[in-house]
Amino acid sequence: MSERTLVLVKPDGVERGLVGEVLSRIERKGLKLAALELKNVDDELAGQHYAEHADKPFFGSLVEFITSGSVVAAIVEGENAVAAFRQIAGGTHPVEKAAPGSIRGDYGLEVQYNLVHGSDSAESAEREIKLWFPDR
Ligand code: CMP
Repeated sequence: MSERTLVLVKPDGVERGLVGEVLSRIERKGLKLAALELKNVDDELAGQHYAEHADKPFFGSLVEFITSGSVVAAIVEGENAVAAFRQIAGGTHPVEKAAPGSIRGDYGLEVQYNLVHGSDSAESAEREIKLWFPDR
């Protein structure tokens, strides 16, 4: 079933010049870009986006990191878009979980600097899309 997911290229990915690489992998997989924007994230958006992690010990550094530089936000659309993007992103930890050939497996070392975010379900995607693209 065609669905939408929210993809972020986090500040480490933008800083390292990996935006084109990430977008290219999304397109090569057969997914479509339905919206794309370069954004500076404030504490409010960061807190809402990561609300489910509010009581985790790493929440403070997560918010500090995501607000530290430009982020590329995209709405990505297609068959099984949520699972498809999570497959090409790789597991959360770039070394312990992400397979070689995935974005995180190929480019990351540390869990905080894991380059990309993808929604974890169709419901999360719709919630996150409302935050990042209120008119979509
Ligand atoms: P993301 O998919 O954006 O969703 C939550 C993020 O929290 C995750 O990617 C990681 O970047 C981050 N994260 C998860 N575990 C840790 C951790 N132990 N320390 C720092 N950041 C973490």
